[in-house]
Amino acid sequence: MRLPVGCKVIGVGCAVPTNVVTNAELTGLVETSDEWIATRTGIRQRHIVTAEESCSSLAIEAAKDALEFSGITSDAVDLVIVATSTPDNLYPSTACMVQAAIGAPQAAAFDMEAACTGIIYALSVGQHFIALGTYRTVLVVGVDIHSRFLNWEDRNTCILFGDGAGAFVLQASETENEILATYLRADGKGGHLLHIPNTGAGYPHGGVPAAKETHRYLQMNGRAIYEFAVNAVPEAVRAVCAKAGIRVEDLDFLVPHQANKRIIKAASERLGLREEQLVSNLDEFGNTSAASIPLAFAEAITHGRLAPPATCALVGFGGGLTWGAAIIRWTATDQRLKNEVSEPAELPL
Ligand code: UT7
Repeated sequence: MRLPVGCKVIGVGCAVPTNVVTNAELTGLVETSDEWIATRTGIRQRHIVTAEESCSSLAIEAAKDALEFSGITSDAVDLVIVATSTPDNLYPSTACMVQAAIGAPQAAAFDMEAACTGIIYALSVGQHFIALGTYRTVLVVGVDIHSRFLNWEDRNTCILFGDGAGAFVLQASETENEILATYLRADGKGGHLLHIPNTGAGYPHGGVPAAKETHRYLQMNGRAIYEFAVNAVPEAVRAVCAKAGIRVEDLDFLVPHQANKRIIKAASERLGLREEQLVSNLDEFGNTSAASIPLAFAEAITHGRLAPPATCALVGFGGGLTWGAAIIRWTATDQRLKNEVSEPAELPL
């Protein structure tokens, strides 16, 4: 069998809950202020799931959006990978739920977990399956609903996160390659700095004891994660550019994990990138964890900020600790726009 030479990125999509929670609304829950949250993080609001929504419902919506963008039908999908830390169930996987809902009967499906870096890990795994010739079309989804694991009495964490999903469609190409390189790292020694200690299975006989109630919730050493991130982002971007055989100066856009505007600013200054090269939407969505990179990417395309052709560095960091980056040469256009039939001009009588 002749192996394909490359992997094209033919679609991107996203989904967020309609319910919006503003900074002002959080002042009713914890001692904080819109001013503190906006200046320290850049976040002004976030979207939070209602009881009717779930990790899988957002993942399915984002997957459908990305498929529509790409113009391919779901039966062409060979593999579904979902990166999430907040699945509906231990099993079935969220990927299996997406596979069933979109109607991809031939597709294999599995979840993977690398916290906020999950989407970069998933892109890398999907690209490798394509490069090996195992699959032609791979749907990669990043989704998280951290709102269900937040302690809404802890102002250090509850102000930061939002819920959402984002997706990419990857396809084999005999002539072109658009994922130029990926770079993945982990440091398990820092696991305690950002963790949801236990959702039940770590304790014998059914769950977290009352004495360890806080173990149900996300816990974070914000300062330590901040320090880690401002070093990890430039390191990963430089490394992935070197792997791709390009210079940082050759990048058109940086699409970083949307955690904190100060992290994005500090890291991009170290890389010598200009503000207009930074793709960011955390003011509106907060930190959506594994979803944040495709969500920012999709939004930038919808708003015309990111137009093809563009060389983009996607860079993530988060729990694990994990971090990593990918270089995407973005050339795709939304097939829905092409399919819009323009009304024939009325002929004068
Ligand atoms: O996907 C990765 C997820 N995690 C991250 O990206 C987190 C990275 N870290 C950060 O973004 C920042 O460290 C935070 C935004 C979490 C915190 O900002 P900071 O500038 O590092 O603040 P700090 O933790 O040093 O706290 C400064 C003060 C403290 O008060 P004292 O001890 O100086 O009196 C905090 O208690 O701000 C206080 N504080 C708040 N005040 C109002 C902490 N959270 C809040 C709050 N509202 N929500």
